[in-house]
Amino acid sequence: MVAGPDTRHNTSTTSTSEQTAVKNKRIWLIGGGSGIGRELALKLALSGNKVVVSGRTSESLADVESTFQQSAGSADSAGSVVPLVYDVTDDQASASVAQQVAGLVGGIDILIYCAGRCEYVDDAELSVDLFRRVYEVNVFGMVNALSAALPLMKMAAGSNADKPQVVGVASLSAVVGLPRAEAYGSSKAAAIYMLDSLRLGLDRHQVDVTVVNPGFVDTPMTAVNDFPMPFIMQVDETADRIIAGIEKRKLTVNFPWQLLLSLKIGAWFPALWFGVIGPRLARRDAKNS
Ligand SMILES: NC(=O)c1ccc[n+]([C@@H]2O[C@H](COP(=O)([O-])OP(=O)(O)OC[C@H]3O[C@@H](n4cnc5c(N)ncnc54)[C@H](OP(=O)(O)O)[C@@H]3O)[C@@H](O)[C@H]2O)c1
Repeated sequence: MVAGPDTRHNTSTTSTSEQTAVKNKRIWLIGGGSGIGRELALKLALSGNKVVVSGRTSESLADVESTFQQSAGSADSAGSVVPLVYDVTDDQASASVAQQVAGLVGGIDILIYCAGRCEYVDDAELSVDLFRRVYEVNVFGMVNALSAALPLMKMAAGSNADKPQVVGVASLSAVVGLPRAEAYGSSKAAAIYMLDSLRLGLDRHQVDVTVVNPGFVDTPMTAVNDFPMPFIMQVDETADRIIAGIEKRKLTVNFPWQLLLSLKIGAWFPALWFGVIGPRLARRDAKNS
């Protein structure tokens, strides 16, 4: 039996009165069935964008569509939510999926890659299977989606007043080594480097790249965490920060600043981080795991 969507963390308060500055775009949002992606999909569609929402679970995507329809009502300014089931680890599907997106909404102005998988490593016991599962979604899945969408986005570059934009959701966990994040944190570091490098490659094609690095956000992904999550944010504010970054075409969107600063201090002073603070966090997390 396929489980229905987990709606416990779908705490959206989005309404048609809340308009974002990103409007009239054709957006492919991957990982939009829950958490941050779901909130982004609803806010962007309610602001007049055509949003194709992808993920593996059709029930979650249908729930986003029906929530959008209920919230939009008969508002003229609303755009649309179109569900499209897509598993980013499926290399074969990736070859044709962007054409399906283009068939549904006419093209891709913005690709938002929000799919993600988090698994922690216990007691430094490395497992190649665990790393593969995490990297398949956070790194190779991103490559699959980008390689599918970029040819269409490059074509759109010539004809659009606004440049097409790739938005990749990574994580602040990549700033400095964190306990138990050998797989998740390193996959996000790889994603950030890949997107930063791609930005240079895409410059002559007139396609912008925005990298989003959230701290802790209350979503189904973090609901299983049994350790303290400092400065945790809700999806509503998280989606607003991301949309503001998209609108300003920022290179990187990092938040919250308190967590960013704490982790940066760790990266700037490695002896302090790896000699004092990090080991304390590791011992605390080992007790909880
Ligand atoms: N929550 C946080 O504290 C936090 C912090 C920093 C960064 N992030 C990043 O933010 C992004 C969104 O995470 P979230 O917190 O909103 O968690 P989430 O609710 O678990 O969302 C992850 C989404 O990825 C989709 N997904 C997973 N595997 C997939 C696959 N193989 N193909 C297509 N879609 C897939 C899931 O949908 P299906 O299962 O239906 O496929 C789900 O909708 C992730 O990249 C995450 O790493 C989260």
